[in-house]
This record gives sequence, C-alpha cells and structure tokens, in this order.
Amino acid sequence: MDVNKIREDFPILSIDINGKKLVYLDNGATTHKPKSVIQAITDYNEKINGNPHRGAHYLSVAATDAYEGAREKVKNFIRARKASEIIFTKNATESLNLIAYTYGMAFIQPGDEIVVTISEHHSNILPWQMVAKAKNAVLKYMYINKEGRLTEEEYREKITDKTKLVAVAQMSNVLGTIYPVKDIVEYAHSKGAVVVVDGAQSVPHMKVNVTDLDADFFVFSGHKALAPMGIGVLYGKEELLLKMPPFLRGGDMIEYVTEQESSFAELPFKFEAGTQNVEGAVALCAAIDYLEAVGMDNITEHEKELTEYALSKMREIPYVTIYGPRDMDSRGGIISFNIEGVHPHDVASIVDSYGVAVRAGHHCAQPLMKYLGIQASSRASFYFYNTFEEVDKFIESIKSVRKWLGYGES
Ligand code: ALA
Repeated sequence: MDVNKIREDFPILSIDINGKKLVYLDNGATTHKPKSVIQAITDYNEKINGNPHRGAHYLSVAATDAYEGAREKVKNFIRARKASEIIFTKNATESLNLIAYTYGMAFIQPGDEIVVTISEHHSNILPWQMVAKAKNAVLKYMYINKEGRLTEEEYREKITDKTKLVAVAQMSNVLGTIYPVKDIVEYAHSKGAVVVVDGAQSVPHMKVNVTDLDADFFVFSGHKALAPMGIGVLYGKEELLLKMPPFLRGGDMIEYVTEQESSFAELPFKFEAGTQNVEGAVALCAAIDYLEAVGMDNITEHEKELTEYALSKMREIPYVTIYGPRDMDSRGGIISFNIEGVHPHDVASIVDSYGVAVRAGHHCAQPLMKYLGIQASSRASFYFYNTFEEVDKFIESIKSVRKWLGYGES
C-alpha cells in the first residue's frame, strides 16, 4: 500500500492549519473524502438526481438504479445475505434508535434484561435506557477489565436467561478495543437474546462479515468511512425486520392507505419513510469502491503498525497515561490518553497550533469516563492515509504541551 500515493487522492490532507501541514488524527469522529467520492457526488447531481421509486421518467429511474445499486454494494461489503436486509438511515445513531423504537418497544417486556458494555457510545446506551424505562425492563452493564477488555467470565455472568437484548460495539470509540462479538453473539443466542452490534468504528477499518458474526442487527455511519455525513446503515436479519413495526411513517413506506388504516411496503422500504439521502448512498457506494480497491486487510495492517509505533513512543513519555489495551491483539487505531496536570481540551488546543487534530472530551461515553475515574481524555484516531511522519509530529506536539504550560522539560 503506497500511502503517499493514496494521500494524493485526498485534497484536504494537503491543507495547512495554523501555518503547519494538517496532521489529521480525528478519524474516529469523521474521515475525509477521496476525489472519487467527491466526483461521485458531483456526477450524481449533474447527471442522475431524481426522486427514486416514484416516477417513470428517466431521472427517477436513474436515481432508483443508483440508490438500489448502493444498497447492493453495502450488502456485499458487510456480507449480508440479501439487499432487502440493508436499510439506509441518517447515521449509526438513527439506526440504533430505529431498533430501540421498533424492536425494543415491541418485544422487550417488563422484567426483561438489556445488557450493554460500560464502554458504549451514548448512542448505544440512551436508546436502551429509554426502552428499559418505558417497558420496566432492566438495563445491565458488562464491565471491562483494567486493560480495557471484556472477559468471557464477565459476559457469561451478565448475559442470563432473562436477557432479551445485548448491545455492543465491535470496536470502542474511546479505547480502541475490538470486542469478541462473535463469541458474545453465540453466547447471547444460547440464552435466547438478540444482539445489536455497533460497527461505527469497525466497518471503516476492518473486514466485517455480518453473516459470519451472526449479528441480529448491525449499524454503521458513512461519514467515518470516507462517505459524507447524513448516510448510515442498519442491517437486520430478515425474520426480525419482517416482524418489527415501522419506525417513521409517511411516503414510500406504504402498500395501501385508506382513511383510517394503512398497510406497509415490503423490506427494506417499510423502514425508509420519505425521500432518502440518495446522494449520500451513491457517495457511500463510491467510498466502498475506494476502500475495497485499497483492500480492507491492508487498511487494518497499516493502522495496526501506526498504532503500535505511536503507543511505543507514547509509553516513553513519563507523564502520559494511555487507556485501553497495551498490545495490538484485538485492538484498533484509537489511542485515548491524558497528560498529567493538563486538561484534555488544552492538549487538543496546543497540538492544534502544530496542525495536529485530535479530539478531546468525554467522547460521548460518560459512563466509561466515570468508570475509568476521569472527566475526559484526548484521543488520536488513525486511518489508512496517516503516515509514520505524522505520528512523529503528533508525538513532538504532545511533548511540547507541558512546556507551553510552564512545566519545564518533563
Ligand atoms: N462518535 C464519534 C466519535 O467517537 C463522533 O468521535
């Protein structure tokens, strides 16, 4: 994989920030677009734009073909069985809410247990808090060990015969831990529970096979995988989607409507009310083409090497605390850290003056912050277009932080 060649495809990576070359290490928040994705958006608007499924005219048909082609592309990318199991949404958050408002509200009963990990993003906690409160169910947490890993003992203890739904991220957006989702799914199924997998941080970085995982539901966002904001995906097993009520109601999701009653369209349209983000779906299709051309295994490997290199350099700095797994086994390219005596927001502002973009805050994971005994952290998150030179600049910038604040040399 030729990273320098790849970088030429991403116009934004060559801009200057504060008079310095941008070092973009906030890929966990959002990623940038290659020219081919930007071009796909332009082409769509210049040659295809129409409202799909609604008209017989040329552009409506062209938009339908583009939109359904994107669905087929996503199906193949995450190895789903059928395109009708792929629902387009706004983002992973909307996908999770869709499951909660439809499956959760219809099938969770009083006394049932919903089990999540303590490291979940708020998007995979708040919908389940809502369902648990509304249905008098119990929301239980699986806790991670000191290394930021979820042990088999822990998930076997927390998932019980009362568990009806387990919601877990494939990769933590704070710790970078890749959880043993396949094993969790197998165990949860043996207890009769369905499993919702948040793939927001995994899909852009590794090969995902939802059929092999046997996940009941799987969600991700386009904008963390080279596509624009406002396009997301919900995968659901057909037998579950069929028995779920619709989420939003309105145009395009119906079969027949009378004055008082309606029946609903077949999958996947039952869950796609109103005009959808066709441009976003087309851009996601181009993004997947780009990722597949680079090769998901190459992406994983490069990010692993970058992360290992960054971790080894960061461990040499005595006042830096790193959260999450120490070794690269089941770990992705996200590093959360704190610098002793410095608020993470100050860290992010100071490194920004070197052109280095990192995220600071609670990362939409306040229960995890509380569990770790911290208010916030800084976070560097890599993508395949990052280089070792950029890691060096990042390390240099974090080494300067305490000097800026008058701590002297160490
Ligand atoms: N969920 C995104 C993140 O972790 C926004 O930064």
